[in-house]
Amino acid sequence: MSTVTTASAKREHRVTVRSLASRKRKAEPFTMLTAYDFTFARIFDEAGVDVLLVGDSLGNVVQGCETTLPVTLDEVIYHTRLVARGVRRAMLVADMPFGSFQVGPEDAVRASIRLVKEGGAHAVKLEGGVDVEDSIRRIVKAQIPVMGHVGLTPQSVNQMGGYRVQGRGDEGRHRVIEDALAVEAAGAFSVVLEGIPEALGQEITQRLTIPTIGIGAGVHCDAQVLVMHDLLGLNDSTPSFVKQYANLGQQASRAARSYIDEVVNRKFPDEDYSYR
Ligand code: KIV
Repeated sequence: MSTVTTASAKREHRVTVRSLASRKRKAEPFTMLTAYDFTFARIFDEAGVDVLLVGDSLGNVVQGCETTLPVTLDEVIYHTRLVARGVRRAMLVADMPFGSFQVGPEDAVRASIRLVKEGGAHAVKLEGGVDVEDSIRRIVKAQIPVMGHVGLTPQSVNQMGGYRVQGRGDEGRHRVIEDALAVEAAGAFSVVLEGIPEALGQEITQRLTIPTIGIGAGVHCDAQVLVMHDLLGLNDSTPSFVKQYANLGQQASRAARSYIDEVVNRKFPDEDYSYR
């Protein structure tokens, strides 16, 4: 079978809630990356990334905000729509931004429906554990798959007093475990574990039947997620748990400087790039 046939055949097998559950049962790690536009969605989907997340991290990496708190539901819907056009195989998850679910379960259901209907998301993600159990239950009842997010939850930055590793000490550890169990009991199909010690990531992964997706939570999680700008080296600084797999920031800067140099010295466009 040619590679082309294999790739297109593979693409037809969409990643679903069921296929991710099966990956956990078979102990086969899967991958998630954030994406915010059509071009990168297409690149990551074709590369074989299993889940694409339109994260509210778009506030930081696309909009240049200090926190994710200003991001609106309309903005997430807009970016989800762009990403949806580039996705053929991956599962598309849209983040519920701050303010779209904190008031109560009714708001949460309404916002989730908009993310699916207007954005084209296959599932939604929301931050919190015990506190959002009811909202998760109601969204799942509306037939929308939910991804939980516990540990370091960036929308709680003011309450946490900064972006701090969570789950340290007996009380902290207990709180993160309770949150993860609550998310699973409420019907979530997976849960992001962010900024917790590796041993706690391992313990939660063993205790839950749903897949755990780690970011700064160690190697034992069922899956890993990174913000695409961190992966590609597009940010000035990255957290210590991030591995940069490319340095596109440096390459883009070098390309822009060469372009400027050639334009001001009348080297571009030369005959190869001109109509006769
Ligand atoms: O918003 C986001 O990008 C996220 C991931 C870091 C999990 O929540």
